[in-house]
Amino acid sequence: MATLKLGVLGSGSGSNMQSIVDAIEKGELDAEIKLVLADVKDAYILERAKKHGIPAQWLDCAPWKTKLEGPAEDRCIELLRDAGCDTVVLAGFMRIVKPKLLAAFPMRVLNIHPALLPAFPGVHSWTQALDYGCKVAGVTVHFVDAGTDSGPIIVQKCVPVLEDDTPETLHARIQVQEHIAFPEALAHLAAGRLKVEGRRVRIG
Ligand code: GRF
Repeated sequence: MATLKLGVLGSGSGSNMQSIVDAIEKGELDAEIKLVLADVKDAYILERAKKHGIPAQWLDCAPWKTKLEGPAEDRCIELLRDAGCDTVVLAGFMRIVKPKLLAAFPMRVLNIHPALLPAFPGVHSWTQALDYGCKVAGVTVHFVDAGTDSGPIIVQKCVPVLEDDTPETLHARIQVQEHIAFPEALAHLAAGRLKVEGRRVRIG
């Protein structure tokens, strides 16, 4: 049986979930995706999951638009537990997760953010980096805490910002690194290599 039993939450295309599936299938990551939940009914992440035989379903998060709270949060925790998940992966999940979910999976919720945190938390961070005039941008995989994109950092990868970049070209370059960074961070977790000391995550 795989070491990590993953529950993946997403809202969009699911390319990060795909990178995790690919790493598992190549034998580079000792994990199994037990369940995929999307807060958007027709999110492509659900199709991708089904193509790989992974249980996947829409999670109605109404009435809230930007957070996972109340009955939807309770349902989410129930579904993840019933599926046997021990680790929750936020793979392009466009909602703030609240303390109840974090308490249900302590230090077991990971997020990917398309910026070199702590710079540019929140949405459209690649556009923020471009508009700021940054010469490098990148991606961060981190443990989730009660703040927004603020938990202890596990893995970061850099990309150059090129003279003729648009938000789209920069985001595409960052996404290539996302697809390396997320499986890498999860492989460290699966191997028991991550030691969290305050804000610092040591990879031993
Ligand atoms: C990624 O850029 C991720 O960093 C951000 O949302 C996007 C999701 O992409 N949080 P995908 O659904 O994994 O393709």
